[in-house]
Amino acid sequence: MRKISKIIVTAMAAALLPAMAAQAEELISIGFAQVGHESDWRTASTKSCQDVFSEENGYDLSFVDCDNDEAAQKEAVRSFIEQDVDYIIIDPIIATGWDTVLTECEDAGIPVIVIDRTIDDSDKYAAWVGSNFKTEGLAAGEWLAAYAEKQGIEELNVLTISGSTGSSAQIGRSEGFNEVAEKYGWNLIDEQTGDFTEAGGQEVMENYCKSYEGQFNVVVCQNDNEAFGAMTAMDNAGVTYGPGNDVILISYDACTAGLEDVKAGKITADFECNPLAAPFVEEVIKKLAAGEEVEKEVYMVEHWYALEDQIVEFEVDGEAQEMTLVTDEVIEAQY
Ligand code: AHR
Repeated sequence: MRKISKIIVTAMAAALLPAMAAQAEELISIGFAQVGHESDWRTASTKSCQDVFSEENGYDLSFVDCDNDEAAQKEAVRSFIEQDVDYIIIDPIIATGWDTVLTECEDAGIPVIVIDRTIDDSDKYAAWVGSNFKTEGLAAGEWLAAYAEKQGIEELNVLTISGSTGSSAQIGRSEGFNEVAEKYGWNLIDEQTGDFTEAGGQEVMENYCKSYEGQFNVVVCQNDNEAFGAMTAMDNAGVTYGPGNDVILISYDACTAGLEDVKAGKITADFECNPLAAPFVEEVIKKLAAGEEVEKEVYMVEHWYALEDQIVEFEVDGEAQEMTLVTDEVIEAQY
C-alpha cells in the first residue's frame, strides 16, 4: 500500500516538474540593491518593490538591504551580474563612484534601472525613476518665506539636520533650501547630518539645543525620522515646536507618521518624497522587454502638506504650488 502511494507521488512529481521548470523559466529575474532600512520612507519603498515584483506577478526578485554601506551595495550589484539576472534595480546610497560597476553591468548586457536617488557621474543605465530633491528643497524654502511673512516673523535663524552626506536626496534638498535662504538673507546657523535616522536626528538636535540655546526659530529635518528624533531632543530641552510655538519645524517625506505629527500640530509643514516608484519601474521593464524606447528620467508626483493655518501661497521656479490639507483621510491613504 505504502509502495503504491510512493509510486503515485513520484509519478505526479515527474508530471509536474516540466510545468514547474517552464514556470520558473518564465519568471523575470530582478536584483534590487536597496539603500538600507533607515527610515519609514525606505520601508515603504522596499514594500512597493516587493509587492510589484512578486512571483505572483511573474518576477523572481533578489533583494539586498545594503545597510547604508556603499561597498556592500557595489558587491550586491556584482553578485546580481554573477547570477545573470534579467534586470538590476539600484537605489544609490551616494551619487558618485558608479561608472565602473555600471560598465560591468553594460558589458554583461544587463539593463540597470536607477530609482529614487540619482547617479551623477555615469549615464550607463536605462532609466531613472525618482524625485526632484532640489524642487523639494526650493518648495520648503519658498513655503517658509510665505509663512514667515504671514506670521510677521522678520528674522529666520535656521538649523538643518541633513540626510546622508553625498546622497542626491541630501545634496538636492540642501541646495534648494539654501538657495532660497540666500535669496531672502536668512541666517543659516548650522547643518549637520542625522543620516536620515531617528537616532541621528535626536543626537544632532541634542547638540544643537546645547550649542545654540535660544538662538534658533527654524529647524529643517531632511526626513520624517530625523524630525521624530529632533522632537524628542527638543522635548527634553524644553523647546516648543510646531505652529504658534518657539520653533517652525519643517520635514521631508510625508510618510504616515510624519503626517500624523502635522495633524497633531508638531511638524509645521511636510514636503513629500514619493517612495512608490515600483509600478513605474515595471512599466520601464515591460518596454525594455518589448524592445521599445524608454524615457531616461521619470519624475514622481509629490505633494506639500500642512494644516489650514499653515497653508500659504508660494511659487517654485515661477510655478504656483498647491498645498494639501492634512486630514484623517489623507493620512489613511498615505504609505
Ligand atoms: O532617498 C530618499 C530619502 O532616503 C528619504 O527622504 C529618506 O527618508 C530616505 O532614507
